[in-house]
Amino acid sequence: MLTKIIGPIVNSSPGLRRILWKRWYQFLAGGYRQEDWTFMNYGFAPRDSQAPPIDLEPADEPDRYSIQLYHHVAAGAVDLRGQDVLEIGSGRGGGCSYVARYLQPRSVLGIDFSPNAVALSRKRHVVPGLSFQQGDAESLPCPDNAFDAVVNVESSHCYGSMERFLGEVFRVLRPGGYFLWADMRPREERDTVLAQFQNAGLELRQEEDITPNVLLALDGVSDRKRETISRYVPRYLLPWFEDFAGVRGTRVYESLRKGDVQYRRCALQKPTAAL
Ligand SMILES: C[S@@+](CC[C@H](N)C(=O)[O-])C[C@H]1O[C@@H](n2cnc3c(N)ncnc32)[C@H](O)[C@@H]1O
Repeated sequence: MLTKIIGPIVNSSPGLRRILWKRWYQFLAGGYRQEDWTFMNYGFAPRDSQAPPIDLEPADEPDRYSIQLYHHVAAGAVDLRGQDVLEIGSGRGGGCSYVARYLQPRSVLGIDFSPNAVALSRKRHVVPGLSFQQGDAESLPCPDNAFDAVVNVESSHCYGSMERFLGEVFRVLRPGGYFLWADMRPREERDTVLAQFQNAGLELRQEEDITPNVLLALDGVSDRKRETISRYVPRYLLPWFEDFAGVRGTRVYESLRKGDVQYRRCALQKPTAAL
């Protein structure tokens, strides 16, 4: 993010940013319908000292890095067994499907801005207890105190107002519920984001810079991504797509490698006493 290519979107006015990102994800879900492509994140690779690789079904192996990101974010802080889980910015639904199939929650609802992404998710992921709905992170179509956990992976940089989004997270979480977040931000914005969490009433339980793990994952998938992109995308759009995908050597990848942009994960809790 925040490179010369994506910078104009990220740095545009909040309203314009929302519109541009919505159009972009609508375009991706509408124009690039490959149903085996179910994740849109940069992935996570554990380093030597971290937990051993998770056991996956053979069909999920191609998505290992993206699944590991979900696993680290969603299961890294809390046990989701028997819980009602909401994912905001569920994209093509692969993360919700992983949580529903592997982490034994009671229910999982995925919400995304893009009607195309929601339609694709509903068609592609038919799993008991899992549903998808179109909605805006800043005005969720959900009742108060409805979820034990809210998951949000690589989506919040698209929103017009982080404050409005966090207000909604707080509203829909049950007291004691967890907000499990991961995303990229310029290094200098770390304190701003932590202050936004605090102002929303969410208590920080875990915070981690996972940029090295994300870079390792990008190293592992760059060749495959480059090959896939070249198969589906017209030549003149290749640099844009490769940058967006964080392929090794692009400006997005380099800004992460240099530390100008950090990929962080946080686990936050709505106080038990909150009404
Ligand atoms: C980079 S993708 C990540 C998708 C998914 N979390 C994953 O990891 O595969 C970002 C997603 O956020 C969604 N999004 C952006 N702005 C949104 C908003 N205001 N409300 C809900 N979803 C939004 C986009 O439509 C897109 O599907």
